Amino acid sequence: MHSTVICPGSFDPVTFGHIDIITRASRMFDHVIVGVFANGEKHPMFSMEERIDFLQRTVGDIPNVKVIGCDGLLAQCAKDFGASAVVRGLRAVSDFEYEFQMALTNRKLNPELDTVFLASDASYTYLSSSIVKNVAYHGGDISNFVPACIHDEIFKRIYIERK
Ligand code: PNS
Repeated sequence: MHSTVICPGSFDPVTFGHIDIITRASRMFDHVIVGVFANGEKHPMFSMEERIDFLQRTVGDIPNVKVIGCDGLLAQCAKDFGASAVVRGLRAVSDFEYEFQMALTNRKLNPELDTVFLASDASYTYLSSSIVKNVAYHGGDISNFVPACIHDEIFKRIYIERK
């Protein structure tokens, strides 16, 4: 049986932590859908199209990875793309409550859908898109957090916002 999973997220922007989880998922499952979601509670720095483009540039060359944009519910999107599980990275215990809540909600909405948690690589346990943006806004070095092409896009966006 072929396994298809979905790695969902806001990816605003993609970080080395996300890339690590997607790459590891691509070695474990036959097909990995990377689902870029519009997160209603957040004001993204980058549009959906930009976030998809950044993911294409960073994980788009992994043969069994497909990047898609999604506007609706994760549970429905997983069904539409034939994904039997959601893959999420767990960085620390503080992630657990929110992730557990999402996993149970998604399973209620789509009883066929399981959630698989991958422990973050130890070098990325502190890393999040919000932290990256915050460091960049204050002029800090983010080269250890995001690939070079994303690094430049973040600083370009901050420069434009400040003009
Ligand atoms: O990278 P994030 O912001 O932690 O990802 C959160 C995301 C996008 C996975 C979550 O907000 C989501 O699943 N959004 C889609 C809408 C949805 O299905 N909501 C109900 C499940 S909580």
